Amino acid sequence: MKTSLQALALPLAFNLLSLVHAIPGGPWKAWKGCCVPHDDSPPATNTTEDATTIIPRQSSCLSTGTQSTINALFSSGGANTIVRLCPGVTIPITAPIVFTAPGQELSTQGYPTDSTRATILIQPGSTVTSAIRGNWQNNVKVLNIQVDGNRPNAGYLGGDALLEMGGGTEGQTVSHTVVKNTRSWSCVHFIGSGQENNPCRQATVMFNEVGPCGHEGTDPATGNGLWADGLSIECIDTTVTDNTITGATDGGIVIFGSPGSHILCNTIVSTSSSGLQFGGINMVDPTWGGNYTGVVVSSNTITGGPNSFINLGIGMGSQVWSNPHPETNFGQVTVINNVFTGNIGFSIVMNGWLGGLTVTGNSVSGVTTPSSSFASAAGCGAVQQASFAASEQLVYYPAGVTGSSGPNTIQSQFTALATNASNWLCLTNPPPLLPDTKSFLPNTLSVDASTSRVVSLRDFHVQVQGDGNVVGIDTTGASVTLIDWPSPRCCALCTGTSY
Ligand SMILES: *[C@@H]1O[C@H](CO)[C@@H](O)[C@H](O)[C@H]1NC(C)=O
Ligand SMILES: *[C@@H]1O[C@H](CO)[C@@H](O)[C@H](O)[C@H]1NC(C)=O
Ligand SMILES: *[C@@H]1O[C@H](CO)[C@@H](O)[C@H](O)[C@H]1NC(C)=O
Repeated sequence: MKTSLQALALPLAFNLLSLVHAIPGGPWKAWKGCCVPHDDSPPATNTTEDATTIIPRQSSCLSTGTQSTINALFSSGGANTIVRLCPGVTIPITAPIVFTAPGQELSTQGYPTDSTRATILIQPGSTVTSAIRGNWQNNVKVLNIQVDGNRPNAGYLGGDALLEMGGGTEGQTVSHTVVKNTRSWSCVHFIGSGQENNPCRQATVMFNEVGPCGHEGTDPATGNGLWADGLSIECIDTTVTDNTITGATDGGIVIFGSPGSHILCNTIVSTSSSGLQFGGINMVDPTWGGNYTGVVVSSNTITGGPNSFINLGIGMGSQVWSNPHPETNFGQVTVINNVFTGNIGFSIVMNGWLGGLTVTGNSVSGVTTPSSSFASAAGCGAVQQASFAASEQLVYYPAGVTGSSGPNTIQSQFTALATNASNWLCLTNPPPLLPDTKSFLPNTLSVDASTSRVVSLRDFHVQVQGDGNVVGIDTTGASVTLIDWPSPRCCALCTGTSY
């Protein structure tokens, strides 16, 4: 300890520390109703005792400034510098905040967990997509702040994620932080390093509130997807626990390989603002050569909310996503005690995995049935359509889940597919419900030979036939009935006639 300010800060930091230490021994332990790993390594939220706090001494926290102010403090302070923002302040930024040395921390003074957490807010008119960059610095920490990409005002923009962490590093932490409204493809990204001997490793991502992230659909101008992930994790031996991800639109938590990582006790919910969310938790990408050895996905709750749905709760394997790839994903992986509720098209689908899966104790009893009440499989292949029509939630292709690295233990509720099927990311919103009746005010309905569909009702269409007759079509049975229509019958001669 070097300054009296730290005397103020340390007890709070130690609260955080003791919380982490409260995880008892053994490889698995119940903690707050969840199954958590025992971790022998030092807690990543370790607040270093020799930290230098470079903050105006009279106020003890930063009450005003921009990214330049914060970046100057980090640059001049060096390793272990803590920049404490004052509760309630908003820091407008037009360029990223960048960690420049190991052990640096950005936090709100007193580590609040409510709306008084300081906000980093991207300004409209800027071209920045990443508010904070912590790449390639060991043990840096983002704690108890709010990071707002401001997509509603600053707009969608392709680029790096709102929070960019990872690279060849160890021990980074993002906790108790709100991350929302990313302009780009993800709210939080831990990127890999591309170096086998120096991977991103031992990060901690816990107790964050993430989302909304992205929008449903594509940008009409460019065709780019507007959707975004909640957490995108390419970091081995990483702990992702107790996060709440609300309104992500691509994957809630996307695990990119990341051997040895534990994804536990997270809550993932789609919302009406997000609409269609593609995935809850993904293990579909070929990153890390498709190596998912030792990944544990346990005790997460995945919920498709009202007026929205999640296409795929947990996807596992190279054949499951919309971009099936020839390399088979592999590794002994444990997916247990996850709970699926609400509007979910398929809860778990497995195809394209090499060996050693333990998939047990997952609950789908709370999923809405029938699936057709919230989604449509019209764009899917025949196998997917059949599973969807039967509201099959737990599905795998046995020939596609095989291999040498260990036995499979798969709960008995799984439906074993007889036929190989790739791409389960094929559900769409159901077509809008058509009205039962439609009325026209006098002189507002004009029908001539160029009119095709006159009116579409539920189970019934009225349209002009090639021969000039106006017909009603029963769309349930496809029988065609000629309406008793007042003469003159519509024809080229009566163009412009109003009925
Ligand atoms: C945590 O703090 C202790 C005591 O200062 C130190 O020995 C240990 O190396 C620290 N761990 C990390 C990950 O910073
Ligand atoms: C997969 O990852 C694990 C854990 O890092 C490693 O021990 C193993 O060698 C990897 N397997 C392959 C085939 O790369
Ligand atoms: C399933 O189909 C995919 C795509 O055609 C193929 O790559 C894969 O090898 C097939 N799986 C099996 C077990 O045949």
